[in-house]
Amino acid sequence: MSRSISLTRYLVEKQRVDGHIPSQLRLLLEVVARACKRISHSVNKGALGDVLGTAGSENVQGEVQKKLDIIANEVLIEANEWGGHLAAMASEEMDAIYLVPNRYPRGEYLLLFDPLDGSSNIDVNVSIGTIFSVLKMPEGDRGVEERDFLQPGKCQVAAGYCVYGPQTTLVLTVGDGVAMFTLDREQGSFVLTQDDVRIPADTKEFAINMSNMRHWDTPVKRYVDECLEGREGPRGKDFNMRWIASMVADVHRIMTRGGIFMYPWDKREPSKPGKLRLMYEANPMGWLVEQAGGAATNGHERILDVQPGQLHERVSVILGSKNEVDRVTAYHHEHA
Ligand code: AHG
Ligand code: MN
Ligand code: MN
Ligand code: MN
Repeated sequence: MSRSISLTRYLVEKQRVDGHIPSQLRLLLEVVARACKRISHSVNKGALGDVLGTAGSENVQGEVQKKLDIIANEVLIEANEWGGHLAAMASEEMDAIYLVPNRYPRGEYLLLFDPLDGSSNIDVNVSIGTIFSVLKMPEGDRGVEERDFLQPGKCQVAAGYCVYGPQTTLVLTVGDGVAMFTLDREQGSFVLTQDDVRIPADTKEFAINMSNMRHWDTPVKRYVDECLEGREGPRGKDFNMRWIASMVADVHRIMTRGGIFMYPWDKREPSKPGKLRLMYEANPMGWLVEQAGGAATNGHERILDVQPGQLHERVSVILGSKNEVDRVTAYHHEHA
């Protein structure tokens, strides 16, 4: 029986063998993984812990915060503020950036996260997760400002998510492929269970919230209609549909067996490019998908090329199996 590879050993090899990541980044990722373990513990308590239901407050997104949104946010802040690896953090649940107490020499990384993704699934025991993205703090000894975070997704140095489902699984890239780690609760450690994740270029499975159909733009309507026409239609094959409404769970399915995920612009809020947030949902997920051989666009351009203008800005998201994403993107260009 080959010895299992822990997250620590995997990261040490990325640092020492491949020289791919510096020790500061390895240590930061270990801190984030430990925080995800703690969040998983709270998630698993459910009704037995005081973690379900709403907190009665509203976040900067205009969403009613769930107790677990706040718990997960606090776990990530607390775990990282003393680590010494960070200059600052940003979160879906916090209006402004969070400067790390400067009692230490300032760390060189910026950590962004969606502490609890899929909040509408918390109280119904459906998979939820945490999404994170790591950027480098720009050079210079001035104070950290929001503009330091406004880097395109292609500047990320690490990205990942942890899905709290039947298993707790951490999925991570540092820029040379994607690896999956499953939490071994007896050992209390993440164990490598899939290395070099690959997304098939073709698929028969699409993920979109169909209740928004009447609000979609033409390219998306055309693509989904063709999928629904099945083998008698222009695609010549039948499609399946999935929508879990936790991005981490829908993306994890795609990382595992392929598919296309779409949360496109729609007419409900025409001034907003989409529902999902660029900096801590679309960028980390977009990089992971690309690193696994998939594609991620906003219908017009590569998500990772989008120049952010604001910390909490939203973006239209089309990601997954490359040939399907290319098709939807081509439809956007045809109908532009
Ligand atoms: P969050 O819970 O962090 O606010 O994110 C929820 C997002 C994403 O996880 C999911 O894909 C999408 O909202 C689901 O939206 P609908 O409920 O409109 O389908
Ligand atoms: Mn939210
Ligand atoms: Mn989210
Ligand atoms: Mn969230």
